[in-house]
Amino acid sequence: MFRTAAIYRSTQRQFSISSTTRSDAIFVHRDTPENNPSIPFEFDEKSMQEAKKIVAKYPPQYKKAAMIPLLHLAQKQNGWTSLSVMNYVAKFIEVPPMRVYEVATFYTMFNRNPVGKYFLQVCTTTPCQLCGSSKIVEAIENHLGIKVGETTSDKLFTLVEVECAGACINAPVISVNDDYFEDLTPEATVKLLDDLKAGKPVKRGPVSGRNNCEPLGQQTTLTTPPTGPGFMIRSDL
Ligand code: FES
Repeated sequence: MFRTAAIYRSTQRQFSISSTTRSDAIFVHRDTPENNPSIPFEFDEKSMQEAKKIVAKYPPQYKKAAMIPLLHLAQKQNGWTSLSVMNYVAKFIEVPPMRVYEVATFYTMFNRNPVGKYFLQVCTTTPCQLCGSSKIVEAIENHLGIKVGETTSDKLFTLVEVECAGACINAPVISVNDDYFEDLTPEATVKLLDDLKAGKPVKRGPVSGRNNCEPLGQQTTLTTPPTGPGFMIRSDL
């Protein structure tokens, strides 16, 4: 019986195509030459102005509530959330560094390792997968010569897989830094990568030509004149 089960398991299709991440790699920090507390970080003038505006939204005794937007701001300036970034944010809002580590290690949008100039996040959750996200991952891997979780040697692109990006209606979807590119095909994805590499302007949103999430093809809803108040209501009410 055990043998049958083993054979059955070995013939199952691998559903996940993500690279394996050891769980301790997610939370454990070890000092490295590029990530250690002696590397200086502080907000530049522009970030400092923004940071002051963020903190001013909260009562002074609750300025720790500004932690996540401040981490975002610091990551934007630094490119990733290093230990020095976390320590600086902790000092800025006057909390023990551990409080910031707890938050930054919980939310995967804080990159605690350096990433490329273009951070490619491919959604591979069910709706995107049904619309061909595996082909998108394959196209990126083949075109850039990297695997999921890796960065190109020129430090231009980092590729990761993510769970639902919240744009399923326009699947398959990838985000490049803060912008979404949707309705992708492998060919459109390769062109996007080439344009980014060449420094050409790229248009975010659906590459299919549709506007936002309107139907592909003809309008399918709200096709008749709107009914007025009282429609289908009994006349004696
Ligand atoms: S499943 Fe990809 S955006 Fe929702």
